[in-house]
Amino acid sequence: MTVATTLSGALTPTDDCEWIIEEAGYDPLREGSRGSRFAISNGFLGVRGARAIHRGGRWVGASRTLVAGLFDTADEEHAIPGLIAAPNWLQVRILRDGVPLTHREGDGKSQHRILDLRRGLLLTDARLSNADVVWVRLRSLHLASLSHRAIGLQLIQMEFERGEAEITLNASLEVSDTSLLPERVEQGLGVWNTTSSGKRLAMATTLTLRIDGVDIDPTSSSPLQWSWRWTSHPGQVVCLARTVAVTCGVAGEVHPGQDAVGALDVARKLGWSDVVAAHETAWTKRWHCSDVEIEGDAAAQRALRFALYHLNGAANPDDEHVSIAARALTGDDYRGHVFWDTEIYLLPFFTLTWPLAARALLMYRFHTLDGARAKAAELGWRGALYAWESADTGAETCPLHVIGPDRKLVEVKCGRQEQHISADIAYAVWQYWQATGDDGFMRDAGAEILMETARFWSSRARPEPDGHCHVRSVIGPDEYHESIDDNSFTNVMARCNIRRALDVVEWLRARWPEQWGSLAARLALSDAELGQWRTVAETIMTGFDPKTGLFEQFAGFFSLDDVDLSRYAGRSVPIDVVLGPEQTRQCQIVKQADVVALLALLPDEFPGDTGAKNFGYYAPRCAHGSSLSLAMHGVVAARLGETEAALDYFRRTSAIDLEDNHAAIDGGVHIAALGGIWSMVVFGFAGLALHADHLTLNPRIPAAWQSLRFGLQWRGRYLKIKIEHATASLEVTLDVGEPMTLVVNGKVFALSREQPLWVLTNFSSR
Ligand code: BGC
Repeated sequence: MTVATTLSGALTPTDDCEWIIEEAGYDPLREGSRGSRFAISNGFLGVRGARAIHRGGRWVGASRTLVAGLFDTADEEHAIPGLIAAPNWLQVRILRDGVPLTHREGDGKSQHRILDLRRGLLLTDARLSNADVVWVRLRSLHLASLSHRAIGLQLIQMEFERGEAEITLNASLEVSDTSLLPERVEQGLGVWNTTSSGKRLAMATTLTLRIDGVDIDPTSSSPLQWSWRWTSHPGQVVCLARTVAVTCGVAGEVHPGQDAVGALDVARKLGWSDVVAAHETAWTKRWHCSDVEIEGDAAAQRALRFALYHLNGAANPDDEHVSIAARALTGDDYRGHVFWDTEIYLLPFFTLTWPLAARALLMYRFHTLDGARAKAAELGWRGALYAWESADTGAETCPLHVIGPDRKLVEVKCGRQEQHISADIAYAVWQYWQATGDDGFMRDAGAEILMETARFWSSRARPEPDGHCHVRSVIGPDEYHESIDDNSFTNVMARCNIRRALDVVEWLRARWPEQWGSLAARLALSDAELGQWRTVAETIMTGFDPKTGLFEQFAGFFSLDDVDLSRYAGRSVPIDVVLGPEQTRQCQIVKQADVVALLALLPDEFPGDTGAKNFGYYAPRCAHGSSLSLAMHGVVAARLGETEAALDYFRRTSAIDLEDNHAAIDGGVHIAALGGIWSMVVFGFAGLALHADHLTLNPRIPAAWQSLRFGLQWRGRYLKIKIEHATASLEVTLDVGEPMTLVVNGKVFALSREQPLWVLTNFSSR
């Protein structure tokens, strides 16, 4: 891939519709969703996809920048921390005789917003005018640098098509969030403190304006405002280049002002074209590691690239103290809080395509272990119970109440009861270790997460006279049912958590006895306690009935009213709004994949045909009231050989953020659903499963897909996989790494760099 070095090259989008998301026109009612969909991010800086210029600061859809970890707590009772907006560094107004130029009347279609997925940047192209005296074609580029995460770049090119007039361009950096209090403001540099969380943020910026190839000094400037005035003429070309360097940290520990100035110096020395070039090279690397190619289905291809774009932009392998929020850095919904979404829906992608990012995300959980220990202790249990909603410290940040659709106050019990999060994190730790063989991580961090979460479950699951251990009063992934007993998802994941912790005890004892000795001493872990863990794992209630082959989602679920959801097929609001929360609770209606999620994550817990039986039972009862749900169903449907049904789940998941038919996209993209898109392809259609010493593949791709290609990293190796429909074949090449074993449709094959694999796969058998 080539990188752009000239301004018009930089402003020209990739010439391939499968790498482009483009929308024309302007509709204030759609600005919210566009802001999310067209957002750019590098895992540190996230900038919503606004238009290039604004009439004023209160303009609908004005740009908004979020900075990972920049949480603050409003000054009110029971306040919970949320990400606050950083100053808007992209503000630009262009005026003729004091009146703003506007997008040309009646020419809404001329306004284009283009997300260039390949290059990881936002382009706009629009025509502006003022009373028809001045006509300008304005093109812009925004990027959040993937190679230098502190750096953001804005390029604007104006080509005057008509009119000689006095033009003023005002560029500023404007604070919109009242939580930011100025500490220091000087020419091109601002340092702010958050009101109550003790964070500091700095932004250093430099701007140049060039008219017909000549740099022009600002006519006036104040510390964070610049203004240029000149006379336009047809054919004139004016370019504005603005670079910003952003740094953030905890007051007292960092010198963000100094660091921002240092980062800006680096970018200044590079110049904007090298900043663009380095950013594009970094994206090229990410695409090399993570691209998925589908032949024969352009819509699926675009949806996948859109998902991969947002996923790659969400992580920052260099920061172990932040994780990915439910809307990543693309919007304000859920206030930047981190859920199980990260470990269950995102970690698989990062573990297998970007292990360094996966490691940093898991280290965030390691660094927030104390918060999880405190939560367990506060509720009367041992070990670590992670926050259902986590911000910067690991303390629980789930609100206690929200306003329901009927405007009544609704109690939110998830913060206390949705405890499967601890087992989900343990699952991700184990998967990461299995897939990477990163023993250092397991020894120094992962093991402690596993021990403390296993300890939590062993204190949480109580033995009862029936000989089983029970976990009472929880919420499973299906949040329509609260305060339930023995949620099978929670309990089976908890059992897996305990078993994997015990496996790691054995491994540490054998491999790193000294480290085991000090960890066991620090956590006061005795053999007697490990024995108790074993008993809990052996006796925990799973809800599995060997006679029917079904897991009962929780105790009593099968006795609830059985409602035929297909009767509500045309509804435009969630089912709990149609029926009301109370009636929903009395029904066998599932908000999102619950037993189905268990089947997706731990298929070995479903012997024989019980996977198909459980899917057959639960899929029709699922209302998909969460964006997380469809993808889990897609993974399972594809594995079960229901390929076309899986494709339908894939398409419906793709529509969540790409089509304006989902109510909640204004608050940011649904990053878990985007992770689910990748999972459907890799774990579903390709049928990948991870094992301690090999990988298995059971491919079956939809009839509309001529071929599917993707890459994977596994234990220091890089594999390329191609599945082709016409020949019903699977081709695997090993680009990097030692020979390995692959099991395809149950047959064992050896794979090495010298010996790629080409096998006929029977698409009709599993
Ligand atoms: C879902 C949760 C999810 C959260 C954030 C909720 O609506 O039910 O499973 O973690 O959204 O995405």
